[in-house]
Amino acid sequence: LLSQLGPDALLTMILRKPSQRSAEDLEVIYEELLHVKAAAHLSTSVRKELAAVLVFESHAKAGTVFSQGDKGTSWYIIWKGSVNVITHGKIQGVVTTLHEGEDFGQLALLNDAPRAATIILREDNSHFLRVDKHDFIRILKDVEANTVRLEEHGKTVLVLEKSAESTEPGAGTNSYTVMSGTPEKILEHLLETLKLPCVSDFLLTHKVFMPSSQLCPALQHYQTELSEGSEQEKAAYILHRKQKVVKLVGQWVALYGLTLKEDPVAVDFLEQIHQFDWFSNCEEPNGRLQPIRAKDKLYEIYQPDHKPLTVMLPVNSSVQEVMSAVLKPESDHVLVKMNSAGERAQLKLDSTAVFTALGLNERLFICTSGQVEQLQLGPEQGTADVLEHMSSKDIANELISYDWELFTAMDEVELVYYVFGQHKFNGSITANLERCVRRFNEIQYWVVTELCLCEDLVKRAILLKKFIKIAARLKEHRNLNSFFAIMFGLNNSAVQRLHKTWERIPSKIKRVYCQYERLMNPSRNHRAYRLAVAKLSPPYIPFMPLLLKMTFIHEGNPNYIDKLVNFEKMRMIAKTMKIIRGCRSQPYPSSPQRGLADRMFLDGPANRISTSELAHPLKTPSNIRHYVLNLKVIDGQRRLTQLSRTLES
Ligand code: CMP
Repeated sequence: LLSQLGPDALLTMILRKPSQRSAEDLEVIYEELLHVKAAAHLSTSVRKELAAVLVFESHAKAGTVFSQGDKGTSWYIIWKGSVNVITHGKIQGVVTTLHEGEDFGQLALLNDAPRAATIILREDNSHFLRVDKHDFIRILKDVEANTVRLEEHGKTVLVLEKSAESTEPGAGTNSYTVMSGTPEKILEHLLETLKLPCVSDFLLTHKVFMPSSQLCPALQHYQTELSEGSEQEKAAYILHRKQKVVKLVGQWVALYGLTLKEDPVAVDFLEQIHQFDWFSNCEEPNGRLQPIRAKDKLYEIYQPDHKPLTVMLPVNSSVQEVMSAVLKPESDHVLVKMNSAGERAQLKLDSTAVFTALGLNERLFICTSGQVEQLQLGPEQGTADVLEHMSSKDIANELISYDWELFTAMDEVELVYYVFGQHKFNGSITANLERCVRRFNEIQYWVVTELCLCEDLVKRAILLKKFIKIAARLKEHRNLNSFFAIMFGLNNSAVQRLHKTWERIPSKIKRVYCQYERLMNPSRNHRAYRLAVAKLSPPYIPFMPLLLKMTFIHEGNPNYIDKLVNFEKMRMIAKTMKIIRGCRSQPYPSSPQRGLADRMFLDGPANRISTSELAHPLKTPSNIRHYVLNLKVIDGQRRLTQLSRTLES
């Protein structure tokens, strides 16, 4: 009898067998799975395991298999017939049709989420091969082919991939991450799954691919009515969706705090979901140093004789606007940016935010084109005599206090603007981030400048020793930014070549220096640094230039792949933002918002100034702070090398 049945009928019969399948049965099913599109890419062992658990499910009538929002219980392969996939997303209705050999229903199982779409059988008398959830998880959890691709209207809209990263226990089914997708579909997927790390990656970078003007309407739309069902069903549906939106928005507010108030579209939207005061838990930044904001007005411009002109203009003004604020439009003046190396660049009239983008020791000069060549910058004399009276500990403390202020004044999202170019984000600035980077360079060149301007060998050796001690204290207090800045300064060729000076450094201190030097080794993507940082717990000030470098590694990656948002890239950038967030998640132990100067005036006798401090006015903390905030440096390598040569030939 068996030999008279066609191959299809044979298989159907085997699949229908209620009892245990024999070895031959399994062989038949296994062979057959080779020809099923949904299973063809699976390994031999996976197909063998599937053969044992596949359930044959037949439907006599066309109609709904399951609905969007249902709990997911099984994965289906279409054996005979076809289904329509319907979503209540942006475009309501049939988004795609699946045919024989294709599969559906894996998404809810992989993500432990509700069904993302409604599935409707198009024909009577259709067949599925079904795998129930526990079998699916057991067998397909570790499958090597781990990409899920969703289509709508013939185009891919979402690509998920199993993430190798997930090491959390029990994360088994939750380890699928978004690789790319359309902004709307990624958002919809995140609303369905509401996995926090992924939601925050999205929110931290959304401005790159989905500005608020798109995000808010999409969130609005997500809560629109269901077109069919009873009144009760409709109400439950809307409530459910609204709750999801509220959760996501709550996360949005938590990430951005009060800065979200600067976004009018967001503010409007938040008012519409007026359930509570979204900002009640947000705190005003209370650091000593206020962050620079786009609307702030400051522009410091120098005349050729170094007399400053302060012009009141928004940070992101254009050169044209700056010029016309200073001068009568017809004059033949130019705006020049010059650094201490004497390099000067005339600024284009349409450049914007040039003031806050200035490099270290760069200044804006306004002069006639004839005067450009005579401009001069950079100190002629060092401050070794002043430094002599300040202890390395006090200097380090003030450096830490100021760096912490700079670091906390920076908004994480500036990193996004920095990587993608601030001009792409209407009115956004990266001024606070640039200020941190500039500070790094300033400290680095401060070290080189002071050593190269100190003519006396004995004093120079003392100064060198002092810088190493300052570095030690910075490291101890986890200010890695200034620690590395000082180390880079000491590592500068103009300092390294001062052999007579180095010879005078006690071997104990030299050993400390050499030990630190190893941390600067860039090999294997700065492994030494990464290992050292991994041991740190917050708060700490990271090595900013390296953090930026790691972010820029992704610059070469496209923002879009086949017109889909390259979410993998967004995730990497969000990761750096989260590192910054992590660093600042705790207040600095010695309350860095109050420098020594404050403590002197506010606290009781324990902090009274000693007589020795009073004996020398330079020693007072406020003077040290003033010194640390006003470092005068030469950043031109050529001039530093020249100076170094005159010291020790
Ligand atoms: P699941 O969410 O479990 O249930 C609905 C299924 O429809 C889903 O898994 C996918 O397998 C399938 N599907 C196919 N295309 C889409 C799409 N564009 N959006 C959502 N689901 C889709």
